[in-house]
Amino acid sequence: MIKTAFTKLIGVEHPIALAGMGGGTSPELVAAVTNAGGLGILGVSSDSPEDLTRHVADTRARTDGPFGLNLLLHFATDDELRAVLDAKPAILSTAWAGDHQNLTEIFNLAHERGVKVMHMVPSAADAEKAAAAGADVIVAQGTDGGGHIGLMGTAVVVPMVTRAVAPVPVLAAGGIADGRGLAAMLALGAAGVLVGTRFLATVESPIHNAFKKLIVDSDGSDTLVTDLADIFLGNEWPGALARIGRNRLVERWLGRTNELRRRRDELMPLMQEARKNGDVEETILYWGQSAGLIHEIVPAGQVVADMVHEAESLLRNRLPSLVVD
Ligand SMILES: Cc1cc2nc3c(=O)[nH]c(=O)nc-3n(C[C@H](O)[C@H](O)[C@H](O)COP(=O)(O)O)c2cc1C
Repeated sequence: MIKTAFTKLIGVEHPIALAGMGGGTSPELVAAVTNAGGLGILGVSSDSPEDLTRHVADTRARTDGPFGLNLLLHFATDDELRAVLDAKPAILSTAWAGDHQNLTEIFNLAHERGVKVMHMVPSAADAEKAAAAGADVIVAQGTDGGGHIGLMGTAVVVPMVTRAVAPVPVLAAGGIADGRGLAAMLALGAAGVLVGTRFLATVESPIHNAFKKLIVDSDGSDTLVTDLADIFLGNEWPGALARIGRNRLVERWLGRTNELRRRRDELMPLMQEARKNGDVEETILYWGQSAGLIHEIVPAGQVVADMVHEAESLLRNRLPSLVVD
């Protein structure tokens, strides 16, 4: 067993959290991670109030353990935030606040309802602000990760953030897919890891099988960091680019963003249809460099168990054996 400030604070067995990846998560996946002793987090940013109620009930029907709900803050209205808190998750997971939003007020709302807060940041400066606002856990996310990311590499941002916010527990995110990553992040000062891409390629993941296979086949070098996805979707993101797969659609539109903006209404439905049909060349797909470490689609519980087992073995055997007197 690996016990950290995070496992103690949240009451989970293992220091591993599923990233709340919007449509990349589902009640089935969240429950699988929680039931394996990790912390499942359901991404609810695009849920209607009815979806939220249904998804939370579905998750509770599958697990008695703790799970979190994730909101991309700049998209969230006050009513949406309150609805998420009223669902009483073990933890509110947040990221990417807009300039108009006050983290202290948001975190206080959660704390008043007995809900803990985990906030994701791409830099030490943002981590200090989140800690000052009262976050119970900070996620230090490196640029290796999938989806929207900052510019710092995980191996640099994690020790910078842990130093900046100590003693607040920090989870490391971005590029972690196995026990080697977990052990390395613990060595850098993290109290655990938050994992996205690895859980996309699991049996319980809700994404199309063709996309799971793409991640397994990827060597991790076929992604790029760009604002193309947000231009496509018409999103204004507060100061972040996104790591997406480099496919035919992306190659076709790189450098042609003005035309893309003009033709968005015509192109978006085609892109969404391609996603539904599993046409991995003609839709926008978010995933991270850790795809290079993912070689098979396995149950999410096995991902958790294998990560813990491998990290324990590294910490117990390999690393101590390197130190000689
Ligand atoms: C498909 C996908 C969707 C994501 N959506 C969200 C989201 O809605 N909210 C959020 O806080 N982070 C989101 N992220 C980022 C993750 O929280 C996390 O930082 C990232 O996946 C970690 O890197 P990894 O993919 O290398 O494990 C997303 C990531 C991916 C791959």
